[in-house]
Amino acid sequence: MQHSFEYYPERDEDAYAIEALLDRAFGHDRHNKTSYRFRDGIAPLRDLALTGWLDGRLVGTVRFWPVVIDRRWPALLLGPLAVDPEMRGRGCGIHLMRQSLANARARGHERVILVGDLPYYSRVGFRQVPEGTLTLPGPFDPARLLMLELVPGAMAGIRGPVGRADSRDSAAFAVPGGAEEPQQYCEGKQR
Ligand SMILES: CC(C)(COP(=O)(O)OP(=O)(O)OC[C@H]1O[C@@H](n2cnc3c(N)ncnc32)[C@H](O)[C@@H]1OP(=O)(O)O)[C@@H](O)C(=O)NCCC(=O)NCCS
Repeated sequence: MQHSFEYYPERDEDAYAIEALLDRAFGHDRHNKTSYRFRDGIAPLRDLALTGWLDGRLVGTVRFWPVVIDRRWPALLLGPLAVDPEMRGRGCGIHLMRQSLANARARGHERVILVGDLPYYSRVGFRQVPEGTLTLPGPFDPARLLMLELVPGAMAGIRGPVGRADSRDSAAFAVPGGAEEPQQYCEGKQR
């Protein structure tokens, strides 16, 4: 059976459905994960957040948070990425990533990191961060710390602790002209 997902930028009114989907996908204790040290109290980058829909129901989400490596290099933290359990294996997750990463590249972002399964994320180009080059503010499995260069060479020589992006760093994530043409950052129609 053909499934025609539609993809839209995240809206304020999607928040409740997204939280419910994330609880289903990751459990209510997901906030204990090390990745949440970068998210607590900091808003996701709204212009990159994408949702997947089927038959008027939100079934997929991907968000990005800003982080800073060694207080110098801005990066995107991809995730959480989740698809409704009943809708998995039909391409929604990969499309959410491909589209949102293309949007990130178009907006001038240079590098993305995440904690996740290499066999899945390698499908969109992620590879393992060389062990010992980046550290996180909590326990993590080095084999699951992954990176993607949106600009060739953007991770070359980069090492150090990954930190939260606070207000002092926000300018690094403001891409000139980025907010002016939202329709070009997501395929499909605007609602
Ligand atoms: C991971 C997730 C987002 C994938 O969404 P999806 O819409 O099912 O993904 P797609 O349909 O685009 O891709 C499915 C393919 O990826 C594979 N895949 C899914 N999760 C995988 C994983 N963790 N490791 C390796 N392969 C994986 C599937 O086996 C399938 O393979 P196939 O194409 O050979 O059949 C979804 O399974 C999910 O929400 N999982 C729970 C939350 C989660 O684990 N998020 C990611 C954190 S690592």
